[in-house]
Amino acid sequence: MVKLIASLLVLAVVAQQAYGDFKSLSKKDSKSFAPVRRNEGKKLKQNNDHGQDRIVKNDEWSGECKGSLEVPEIPKGWMDLKDGCLNGMRHQIQEEINASYQYLAMAAYFARDTVNRQGFAENFFKAAKEEREHGSKLVEYLSMRGQLTDSVSNLITVPTVAKQEWKDGAAALEDALELETKVTRSIRKLIQTCEGKPYNHYHLVDYLTGVYLEEQLHGQRELAGKLVTLKKMMSTHGELGEFLFDKSL
Ligand SMILES: *[C@@H]1O[C@H](CO)[C@@H](O)[C@H](O)[C@H]1NC(C)=O
Ligand SMILES: [Fe+2]
Repeated sequence: MVKLIASLLVLAVVAQQAYGDFKSLSKKDSKSFAPVRRNEGKKLKQNNDHGQDRIVKNDEWSGECKGSLEVPEIPKGWMDLKDGCLNGMRHQIQEEINASYQYLAMAAYFARDTVNRQGFAENFFKAAKEEREHGSKLVEYLSMRGQLTDSVSNLITVPTVAKQEWKDGAAALEDALELETKVTRSIRKLIQTCEGKPYNHYHLVDYLTGVYLEEQLHGQRELAGKLVTLKKMMSTHGELGEFLFDKSL
């Protein structure tokens, strides 16, 4: 009995800490996406000269912000990622975001209670997260080259997913392999554009080859391997083969 109470206490403390972490995380997130913080319709208090509280209205704050955030003039020559190579990078970001949504659709399908293939679902949720991270990394690269100049909605549009249901796990893995092949082709084309004259962007090309293509090629091999194993299991054991394969994911 004492043991039980003790473990309940530990659980409560852990849960509270986790909630605290979550709260501070979401606070941090919302801050990083809102560089210009205006007060959201609420009235804020501010000390006046006599140490008394004074109510500050919305427009007073935003007026102050506008004045202090004017972008200063600096030389622009260093922003030399341009034209075809820059457009290719923007295209690649959308490609990664599209792939992320496609994987999310796959994950959501296999996570349905009526489908209930948790292994496949987890595998595709992870893939969706990775694709989104690929997109983010390229956005960070654009920032490093001074190319994040307008709003993110001019860079990324939310895609609609063409397919949302799959016959079985093998059909989804086949689509995944085709999706990765398309992404690989797109990266190679981007590399070709950026390495050639007049860009010679070897720094970017090195990154795309050494980091992106490297991961891409290993990912494709992994998918192909999974597909072969699954198909072998299904050829001898049918649906039971798929059930067992899902457990092994
Ligand atoms: C992303 O998906 C949208 C459909 O929602 C499509 O129109 C667009 O061409 C795709 N972009 C890339 C780069 O694959
Ligand atoms: Fe990717």
